[in-house]
Amino acid sequence: MSERRDGGAAGAAPAKVDVAEKLARIAEHWRPKVVAELNGQEVKLAKFQGEFVWHRHEREDELFLCVAGSFRVEFRDRVEELAPGQLIVVPRGVEHRTVADREAAALIFEPAATRNTGNVVDARLTAPNGVKV
Ligand code: NI
Repeated sequence: MSERRDGGAAGAAPAKVDVAEKLARIAEHWRPKVVAELNGQEVKLAKFQGEFVWHRHEREDELFLCVAGSFRVEFRDRVEELAPGQLIVVPRGVEHRTVADREAAALIFEPAATRNTGNVVDARLTAPNGVKV
């Protein structure tokens, strides 16, 4: 058994994650699925279509990387259009929503248990946390 530099026992390295393969297993829109975890954060994949709800996260910064299609991240004072390979960090406390005219997909990186609708609870859009794919 090898030792990590911090002295902890090394665990088995997890298998690689194939983003396209994971996306093929996601049919719903606006319901992020966890594909990896590290350092108390989660890497999630989600498909977007239509308009999300305006919200903010009081404690979490939120990263969106466009992986398929294109979508907008709207702020109250400007809009950012993301194409595949482009990412943006939404700082904590900043109101935003995502909008996709046609189906798109995002990789999301944020602390575990971040509610997707932030300070808002929406019967249609608030998704359960910790669901893996
Ligand atoms: Ni958000």
